[in-house]
Formats: sequence, structure tokens, C-alpha cells
Amino acid sequence: MSAGPAAHRFAKACHLDSLGDDSRVLVEVEGRRLGIFRVGGRVVAVHDRCPHQGGPVCRGVLSGTTMPVNAHEYRWGREGAILSCPWHGWEFDLETGAMFGNPRIRLRTYETRVDDDGYVYVRVQVREGRDE
Ligand code: FES
Repeated sequence: MSAGPAAHRFAKACHLDSLGDDSRVLVEVEGRRLGIFRVGGRVVAVHDRCPHQGGPVCRGVLSGTTMPVNAHEYRWGREGAILSCPWHGWEFDLETGAMFGNPRIRLRTYETRVDDDGYVYVRVQVREGRDE
């Protein structure tokens, strides 16, 4: 059976209040394991599957990175915006989904929306009879 045309909808993921001290919660939405993160004032949704070997990337350590200030000086910054996969340590920028050192490799990210009631919704693709 072939799948019908793709459609999208926003599915409820969690409440903003459920984001813990480390600004993260793991949820299942439409059969997908997702990490919901609060990063720099935004809410980001990431598929909990590392593009390297499928590790549970959303359970990794959140940290920052050294950023160039000028040609000879670096400074620590972006605390909480860098996610390290717990299996082999690949690091990803949560704001873009891109891997450090090879931005062509990316986390699967989803558009999010926060409604007035504080619930986070994630835009997922749905096909007739199955999800993306
Ligand atoms: S599975 Fe994530 S770095 Fe290897």
C-alpha cells in the first residue's frame, strides 16, 4: 500500500512547566521519541536519534563551547545550547541542529509552537495510514 500525500499538523508534546532545571524533557509524540529543549528563549524539538549510529542523543550532556572573540582569543559561551551525544560524543548546536565541525550532518529538528496555555506543540508530518 502506498502512502498518501504528506500533511502536517501540530501535536501536543509537553507543558513548558515540565522543562526541568536543565531545560529539557523527553517525550513521545506520534510514535517519535523527541527531546524538547529551551534554548536561548526558544523551544526546540529534536528527534532522539543521533545521525551517527542512532544513539539517544537527547539524553546527552548540555554545555557550551569556546567562541572566537578575535583572531587570538576565545571565550566560553552559549551555555546550554550544545548537546553531546552520550554514545561517542558528537556535538550538535541545538539552535541549528548542525554538528560541530561538519554542519552538513544535522539532528532532525521539528518546528515548535507554544500556545497561550503553556503547552508546546511540535509540527509533525503525517501520511495517510502512517507517520513520517
Ligand atoms: S551514536 Fe551519537 S555520536 Fe555515535
